[in-house]
Amino acid sequence: MTEQVTFHDHKPAASSLYDAVVNGLSRVDKSIPPKFFYDKRGSELFERICEQPEYYLPSVERRMLSQLTQEIAALTGRGRILIEPGAGSAAKVRLLLDELRPVAFVPMDISFDYLKSSAMDLAREYPWLKIHATCVDYTHSMPVPEEIPDGPRLLFFPGSSLGNFDRDEAGAFLRMVHGALGDDGMLLIGVDTKKSESLLNAAYNDAAGLTAKFNLNLLHRVRQELNADLDPDLFEHRAFYNTEAGRIEMHLVSTHRHRFRLNGHSFEFEAGERLHTENSYKYVPQEFIDLASESGFSELRHWVDDGGLFAIYLLTADRRG
Ligand code: AVJ
Repeated sequence: MTEQVTFHDHKPAASSLYDAVVNGLSRVDKSIPPKFFYDKRGSELFERICEQPEYYLPSVERRMLSQLTQEIAALTGRGRILIEPGAGSAAKVRLLLDELRPVAFVPMDISFDYLKSSAMDLAREYPWLKIHATCVDYTHSMPVPEEIPDGPRLLFFPGSSLGNFDRDEAGAFLRMVHGALGDDGMLLIGVDTKKSESLLNAAYNDAAGLTAKFNLNLLHRVRQELNADLDPDLFEHRAFYNTEAGRIEMHLVSTHRHRFRLNGHSFEFEAGERLHTENSYKYVPQEFIDLASESGFSELRHWVDDGGLFAIYLLTADRRG
């Protein structure tokens, strides 16, 4: 009997928090990329954010997916190879597996430990499912294991993770997805919509203060992992919707003028100066469909929930000419 779960390690040289901090804080507009939120504590905080009433994205998407599974399966057909970049705990894909009946599932995640435990759990729950767990930073590459069977592929990218990319990066990401799909490939993707500023602002400023903790955790990481004499208490969480740019911005605002040292470097903050930690782009359906079509995809169907809060798109990969 062939093994139900196989592992593929494509982990690139760990992208360094140190380099990101030194480069990001040496700029006039200071920034650190959002992927550094997700250490163990950051990942736990994110999971708790997903349970907050203000952070509507995961609950609305989950409700939509569970109502749409049959309709989606009718459009994709059964027996595809299902690929999920950033699969994490693979919670959402469970809503689809019984209907989609993929011949193989390829979860990709940057954390080998997380990937391993979630792949083993999934294997126990779905004894019929072949799993090819792939450890990779999918923002750089999307290596599909060579041993997977031939057949049409479906890539699942829920959670509005696309929102962290700016327009150019999102286009490049979609072209990379196109490259990983091959003939008759499809993409099922969940993307947050533009909506009232107050709902968006509330989603990133939950009353329980978890998003603030999540944002500030980045500074705790810098202090602990890099031995910086940085005081996270000198910063405040700020998140707001930037209407012109169509994105939520998250920043850490320095409440006082101060400086801190990191391995011979010294970084200075003015009172009120911001460290930009995340963008989360929102798309009107037509904007996303246009972006996807520039990257080689055609819309098959899309769904928006009744409240207009979230959108799910099913797209086909155009054949390369
Ligand atoms: C995981 C990128 C989709 O942008 O909504 C949640 C991350 N940041 N609250 C988002 C996040 C603050 C989230 N994504």
